[in-house]
Amino acid sequence: MTMDNPQQPAGAGPAEGGATWVRVARSGQVPEGYVRRFFADGVEVAVARFQGSVYATSNYCTHLDCLLSSGKLIDDGIQCSCHGSVFDLQSGEPIYPPATVPIETFPARESDAEIFVAITAADREHGGRRRSFRASDTRAPRRAP
Ligand code: FES
Repeated sequence: MTMDNPQQPAGAGPAEGGATWVRVARSGQVPEGYVRRFFADGVEVAVARFQGSVYATSNYCTHLDCLLSSGKLIDDGIQCSCHGSVFDLQSGEPIYPPATVPIETFPARESDAEIFVAITAADREHGGRRRSFRASDTRAPRRAP
């Protein structure tokens, strides 16, 4: 007797590059034209649906780390809500400034009304891109006089 792997899209082979498929959401959680935040085995991803296809990227803008899941989709890119950078959904390349560095992208697919994202062991190890830690954030908390 064989058991279906619930973390594997139906009919899909293994993901490329040593990655494994991780179920992150039901299809209805990402309506057309929307982007939402999910976690794939602890890796924070922004999942978007554009013209019926799903895309997964890092959730952090490479300009100043704003959350891309707070942004919106324009044309075929994801626009950061902070300063307007737009990144190509497929390649992660910046389309409009001020960002100049691409965002990370992940393979994504849909099967049986569920969305899957391919995550590598390296992705799991570092947990995906996170908000930067800034030296200026190390100030001691204010104390009451
Ligand atoms: S933080 Fe995204 S454009 Fe500035």
